Parts: sequence; C-alpha cells; structure tokens
Amino acid sequence: MEKYIIKGGKKLSGEVVISGAKNAVVAILPAVILSDEPCVIENIPGISDVTITLQIMSEMGAKIRMINKTTVEIDPRGLMNLPIPYDKAKRMRATTYFLGTLLGRFHSAHVSMPGGCNLGDRPIDQHLKCFAALGTTCELEGGMIHLSADRLIGNQIFFDKNSVGATINGIMAAVKAEGLTIIENAAKEPHVVDLANCLNSMGADIIGAGTDVIKIRGVKSLHGTTYSVIPDQIEAGTYMAVAAATKGDILIKNVIPKHLEPITNKLLKIGVKVEQFDDAVRVVGGEGYVGTSIKTHPHPGFPTDMQPQLSAVLACANGTSMITESIFDNRFRYVDELRRMGANISVEGRVAVIEGVERLKGAPMRATDLRAGAALIVAALGAEGTSEIYDIFHIERGYENMEIKLKALGADIEKIDEPEEPGEESRKAI
Ligand code: UD1
Repeated sequence: MEKYIIKGGKKLSGEVVISGAKNAVVAILPAVILSDEPCVIENIPGISDVTITLQIMSEMGAKIRMINKTTVEIDPRGLMNLPIPYDKAKRMRATTYFLGTLLGRFHSAHVSMPGGCNLGDRPIDQHLKCFAALGTTCELEGGMIHLSADRLIGNQIFFDKNSVGATINGIMAAVKAEGLTIIENAAKEPHVVDLANCLNSMGADIIGAGTDVIKIRGVKSLHGTTYSVIPDQIEAGTYMAVAAATKGDILIKNVIPKHLEPITNKLLKIGVKVEQFDDAVRVVGGEGYVGTSIKTHPHPGFPTDMQPQLSAVLACANGTSMITESIFDNRFRYVDELRRMGANISVEGRVAVIEGVERLKGAPMRATDLRAGAALIVAALGAEGTSEIYDIFHIERGYENMEIKLKALGADIEKIDEPEEPGEESRKAI
C-alpha cells in the first residue's frame, strides 16, 4: 500500500505544467469506439483512470498503441461488444460512458453499475431517460445494465437534473442516431465541450455544447481524427490552492484561464494574488487571508471538485468561512481528516462552517476520495510538521505524477510503499 509522507511548511515556488483533463479524456477515449477509423488522442494524462479505460478497450478488441507518453492511437475497428463486468466498472464511474458509446455503435450495451468516488447517492436515471427517449430498452439484472435498441431515433430530451455524465452519454448515443436529438438543460462543463469538439472533428454534427441546449444531428459514420485533450481545470485549481496554502509563488502552465475563473475569483477574494496570462496563471500566496463563502454550482459556477482543496486553504484564513455543497450529498468526508490536523470545521448537512485557525499541524490521514485526497495534500503542504496520507490510489486516479510535480516546486514529499494489511485490497474497490 502506497502512502505519501509530507513535511509541511515550505513555500512552494517555480513552474508546474498541467496535464490533460481527466474528466474529458475518460469520455473522449470511449468515444473513439464510435469511429470507423483509427484515432490519435493527444495530451492524455498519466493517471490510473486512463489506464483502466484503455485496458477495458483493449480487452474488448481495440488496438491500442502508445505513440509517446501523452499520445495514444486507438483502432476501434476490431472492438467486440463484450460486457463490462463489475471488477472493471467498480474502479471508476466513467465506465458509464461505455453505455452511450457501445449503444451508439452496436445498438446494445452491457455494463455493470458504476463505481468511482463515493460522494453519496449518484443515480443514473437521467442517462437511462435519455437512452429510452432514443428508443432503447433498459434492463437491470444482477447489477448489470443491459441496453438494446432496434434503431436509435433522435428525440427531444429535457434533463430534470443538470448532469455531466447524462449529457455526455446522451451525446454519445445520439451522434449516430437517425435525425435530430435536442438535449435541454445540458451540462456546460469544459469537458462536455471538449467531447463535442472531438466528435465533431470525427465528422459528427453537434452544436451548442457549452450552452443549455445541445443539438445533435445524427450522421451515418465517423472517421478518424487527431485530437488534443484540454488541460485539466481541477488539477490546475489544485496547484492554485497549493500556492495559496504554502504562501508560495507558482506559475501554472498549460491552462485555459477562463476555465479557472470561479477558482481565481475566490482566491482573489480571500487575499491571494492571481495573475492571468494566455495559457498560464501565476498564483502568489501570503499572510492574512480572510474567510469567505463558497457555494458549488454546475459550470460556470464554482466546481464541486474544487471545494475540498479550497476548504483546506480556508482552514487557516481569518474569521469564518462557509462552504455549501449543492451537487453531492457526501462531499465533506475530508473534514474529519482535516480536523485531525487541528482544523475547526463543523458540518451540518450540506454546509460546512470553517473557523480559521492559525496553523494546521501534520497528522496521519486517509484520502476518502479523489478530491478529498487532493485537499489533504494541500493542507499537509501548508501545515507544520509531518503528515502521512494513506489510500493515495484515490489521488492517482486523477493526478499525474503529483509527488514529482510537487517535489519540483520544492515540496518535501515522498511516496512510500508499505506492505498491505488484511482488508486493504478490498477497500481499493470502492
Ligand atoms: C462529473 C465529474 C465529477 C464532478 C461532477 C459534477 C466526470 C467523470 N466526473 O460526475 O468529477 O464532480 O460531474 O461536476 O466527469 N444525477 C442524478 N441523476 C443522474 C445523473 C446525475 O440525479 O442520472 C445527479 C447527481 O447525483 C449529482 C448531480 O446530478 O447530484 C450532478 O451529477 P453529474 O453531473 O452527473 O456528475 P458525474 O457525471 O457523475
């Protein structure tokens, strides 16, 4: 079992280059299944969610060739419509995207109910509503979702919930359906737009991605493409939080500053300096931050995937901060861990109230999910003394070479491999 050991209290400075976006690549790789020709996908991050996605596609018969560390060529022509069992699906929620893409290509799909971060109840009713609207029947049996359709026919769909996953699955299923599909109350996240751009580069006809209404005119076939994944908004935001928490000075390169604006605005408000360039942001931390309120919202609001990291910064801001989580009902599991470091945070339902303390102190902690783990790293880097962070497999799902990138900024962080204790292997399967 691997863990991080972090000796905190150093001001981190220098440059860090942001990798391709996890939430975009986990949609774009499965989307290649819809193509009749090989596709080259560039700027893929070296994270375990990518490894798992490529492994699933390879086991189904796609030919995968790594051209270099960040570029993969995928030939989906020989891919067979095999079921995706629980032992694969439990490891990441984005395996749901195989439902949309396999349905789009084969008019049927057999995928186990997904896993991924445990953020409370994460239903997929909107995904299924969309598939049904296109003419699909859905059966749930033994934890497997079975979809089948004689024909996929475009339709108008209104999502009751604004859902990234359902929007992406809707696009995948509709892209080769007959006629026009209109998705209303669509998610507007950058990764939704990136998927649509990628599919359009393969010959799809999708307009409106990034707005509430997406129109997809079905095409008969898709061709090959070379497409570069956008930079990861949340990885960039996490390094912004690192600069703030360590009172450091970090130039964060290969970013789209517009995607970072909700994070930038909050940091500016509490007293962190943020300078924007064309494809970089410089974040300079300091003393005497002031507490603030944050409420998470779908894009372009403050992203739920950044609230744990910002809470870690606010744990040491002057006064009271209030974090309201409006997307997920179980997103404060990191709070217990931050309390171990001396943070003064109370949680009531979906609201966390943070009374700033002067300093956090290093402690042993457990990453309970991906972004919770990132928050613990932010807190540990800014804290006095040594922290140990366990269950870092959660963090490696979404952050490429985090300890290497942090070391280059001057962090005292080591990744240690310890023998597993009984029961640990099964915890990885959450
Ligand atoms: C995606 C992101 C995740 C991010 C989240 C919200 C990926 C791979 N993951 O997750 O990092 O935290 O968006 O920005 O891109 N819901 C329903 N029914 C559905 C689908 C969703 O009720 O059928 C609800 C969810 O429970 C949640 C809300 O809608 O309350 C938003 O979820 P959704 O946008 O679907 O999140 P994911 O796609 O799972």
